[in-house]
Amino acid sequence: MAGRFIVFEGLDGSGKSTQILRLASKLGREKVFLTAEPTETAIGGTIREALSGSLKKTPFEMAALFLADRISHNILIGKHLENGRDVICDRYYYSSFAYQGLECDLSWVMHMNLGCSAIRRPDVCFFMDVSPSYCRQRMSQRAELEIFEKDLALMQKTRDKFFEVFSLLKDSENIKIIDASRHIETISEEIFSLVSEI
Ligand code: TYD
Repeated sequence: MAGRFIVFEGLDGSGKSTQILRLASKLGREKVFLTAEPTETAIGGTIREALSGSLKKTPFEMAALFLADRISHNILIGKHLENGRDVICDRYYYSSFAYQGLECDLSWVMHMNLGCSAIRRPDVCFFMDVSPSYCRQRMSQRAELEIFEKDLALMQKTRDKFFEVFSLLKDSENIKIIDASRHIETISEEIFSLVSEI
């Protein structure tokens, strides 16, 4: 049987990484392929340079770079799913909609991603929802802040954009909004029970 494709989304500092690791261990670490976007490829490296501010790219260039990165990533994701492994991905096209959608035409970004047959639809997307001030508090413990993490108002706008997108996709995608301000164990139990449904 083919594996399930599970995506985690959320603002930086929303606790995605912790919940991804917990879900992977509940599913059985050897049965799961853990991955993330931007990827570790050359395109992913260019994206990271731009995110850190050391390379100048327009929002449109960023949207296209994330798209190219995702198309290559899908080849790898597909192989693991076909081999029967579940794939858990930290960020996917919803991040392009929320972050690049703030600065480019959202409809163009959505069309490029959703209209591309080389980009698969996840079986489920978990949105780790917390207030931007909660994320900011957690992020301040990390050494380097990327451009998106610097501005609380921008984080609020990004969260609003995620919700705008989720409302547009509510009939075509399986999106679960998770209240991520609760106890870590409570959150991971809820996520595991939702994954068991699929
Ligand atoms: P990174 O530090 O690699 O991951 P995370 O913060 O999730 O641990 O940063 C990824 C950044 O890339 C994050 O700020 C959101 C941004 N991003 C986009 O703007 N568009 C996209 O399509 C993706 C996948 C990420």
